[in-house]
Amino acid sequence: MRFSVVTIFPDMIESFKKFGVVAQAIANGIIEVNAYNLRDFTTDKHRVVDDYPFGGGPGMVMKAEPFFRFYDFYLEKFGKPHVVLTTPQGRIFDNEKAMELAQKEDLVILCGRYEGIDERVMEIVDEEISIGDYVLTGGELAAMVIIDATSRFVPGVVDEESVKKESFMNDLLDHPVYTRPRSIQKKEVPEILLSGDHEKIEIWRRKEAMKKTILKRPDLFLKKESFDRIDKLSIIELVRELIKDAQ
Ligand code: ADE
Repeated sequence: MRFSVVTIFPDMIESFKKFGVVAQAIANGIIEVNAYNLRDFTTDKHRVVDDYPFGGGPGMVMKAEPFFRFYDFYLEKFGKPHVVLTTPQGRIFDNEKAMELAQKEDLVILCGRYEGIDERVMEIVDEEISIGDYVLTGGELAAMVIIDATSRFVPGVVDEESVKKESFMNDLLDHPVYTRPRSIQKKEVPEILLSGDHEKIEIWRRKEAMKKTILKRPDLFLKKESFDRIDKLSIIELVRELIKDAQ
């Protein structure tokens, strides 16, 4: 999958590319992340990308032409991409959107700055995405969040079993995890994890995931539509545990 980010701060994206799972996926040829400097698509000597708003008002507006010039360049080079504009006005990004975007072959992310972008740029934008209800100084962090979360759903980027089991995939938060040593300052690893009984461990983990989700994210729990056998067994365990604790 090819991600292309259009920004006036391409170094932010270049730095992001150097670390962790994203760097590994690039090295393995599974994803491509390209940063394009919007200023390279200007035609004036000073490479100006913003201008005063028609009608007056505070702040500057990003000019439309550099985006159109970028788009024409891109069409010629790679063909038609799916184009996202990062903006606080967009639909809130979530795991489902990440999965949906991971189906695209070519994703272009336009990063806004200043007070906004000339409305005519919307002609080349397929969707507007926000990463949360707060205002960033620019869309670059949002672009990195989108690339990071989306690339995890591109086959081969991370272990597929772990994607399936992780938070949100079954509308539950992750269960707690432990590693060596078995005892730290008299705090012990739950005995069941050392039992070697895989079904019991699975039920215990699911029960802990349910507890955590109900307490921390009841909204997520309410969204959960399907309850498989392990879910049901873990609810039985949970009720038993509660009754035992109350006695
Ligand atoms: N640009 C500024 N704020 C943003 C946000 N919350 N999400 C995406 N892009 C943004």
